[in-house]
Amino acid sequence: MNAPDLPVDPNRRFPDDFVWGVATSSFQIEGGTDADGKGPSIWDRFCRQAGAIADGSNGDVACDHLHRMPEDLDLIASLGVTAYRFSVSWPRVQPAGQGAWNTAGLDFYDKLVDGLLARGVKPYLTLNHWDLPDALQQRGGWTQRDTVYRFVDYALGVHARLGDRLTTITTHNEPWVISTMGHEWGVFAPGLHSRAAAAQVSHHLLLSHGLALRALRAAGSLARLGIVLNLAPIHAATASAADRATAQLEDGRLVRWYMDPLFHGRYPTDVLDFLGVDAPRVEPGDMATIAVPMDFLGINYYSRSVASADGSWRASGSGLALTDMGWEIFPSGLTELLLRLHRDWPVPPLYVKENGAAFRDEVVEGKVHDTERVAYLAAHIAAVGDALAQGVPVAGYMVWSLLDNFEWASGYAKRFGIVHVDYATQRRTPKDSAHWYRDFLQRQRQHRAFAQLMDA
Ligand code: FCB
Repeated sequence: MNAPDLPVDPNRRFPDDFVWGVATSSFQIEGGTDADGKGPSIWDRFCRQAGAIADGSNGDVACDHLHRMPEDLDLIASLGVTAYRFSVSWPRVQPAGQGAWNTAGLDFYDKLVDGLLARGVKPYLTLNHWDLPDALQQRGGWTQRDTVYRFVDYALGVHARLGDRLTTITTHNEPWVISTMGHEWGVFAPGLHSRAAAAQVSHHLLLSHGLALRALRAAGSLARLGIVLNLAPIHAATASAADRATAQLEDGRLVRWYMDPLFHGRYPTDVLDFLGVDAPRVEPGDMATIAVPMDFLGINYYSRSVASADGSWRASGSGLALTDMGWEIFPSGLTELLLRLHRDWPVPPLYVKENGAAFRDEVVEGKVHDTERVAYLAAHIAAVGDALAQGVPVAGYMVWSLLDNFEWASGYAKRFGIVHVDYATQRRTPKDSAHWYRDFLQRQRQHRAFAQLMDA
């Protein structure tokens, strides 16, 4: 099936200060999982469980970014982006998750940040993109309240070394995924199957976010602070009362379970009722801590979600084009989501911190003609433009991902990069989508230069 025909108008002009970027995460690209004093993460352990990763792979080498960082920074700069979103591997900088710091690990990120600034690219740092130190998991990980305080120490340690040069600090990437996929469905690290554990984990992630924001502000953070949520509009498969009720509950669990505490200081009562005895233990003061004001809210958007009471709905039967992940290509869902966030909560500036798609890319004579990805990106950028035009304060957009990389439980089979990686040789080949994005950003700069000329 062909990608939908929803091109972004190349002449469409975004605000002059709109941030354009590309994103990656530590475990998915770095490799060097035990290099230079790094401790193991929960993903290192999870990858070794039989059947956990579709292609039996792991993050030992990944894109070897640990050893190819300057070359990768050149690639980023060549795109003309203004921002690079990356994450710090907690066990690389603090191998046991508490106590001693690993200087070699901190040095790596120090060079990364300086390398970005030297190339005119702003560093957008994420503290937790899932690779928790395994030593903390052995003590219960995110199910334990103590991990909340360990995270705040980690945040302060990273800030002490890098904070003077960062544009933003994100506490957590996608707490829903860590909680639900990692602790309830067991398909991501640490691979638990407990709804009660998952609920407690989500509370601890949110609490640690709020406490870290307070601590970073007290430490004089110059970087803007926030969190990144994976959100989507949830549509009912049919108009039946049962499907609509399921969609409402799913919206509660994915969207309102995170947005309500962050912006209203309370969990949604319908979800609390649903969880019953599995609801998290909340201590006095926790909810006010979670609701400390943020400087930005990041959202990751890939597709809509469709709910059916009997679980029978399948994307393959929807008639829409699908990505290689089997996800529907649904750009208008991004506009719908942004409008809804702006309408229902007092949100700060919004950033799309991840958006992109996996397709079966092949290098043919040194080129990758990823036409479907170009169409996907163009349509979603247009969807952001539509939200902006309707008054939503969207401040930036980042493509997931710079490079093909380790796609968690899918291993290396799913390629999300705008730059192709040949894992045998580590050769990087910019795909057509990288060239398209570079040209699109070039036109944005031309619009700006032209406007400045007219103003002068
Ligand atoms: C998001 C993750 C990111 C990547 C994309 C495809 O959920 O944050 O690391 O795997 O999905």
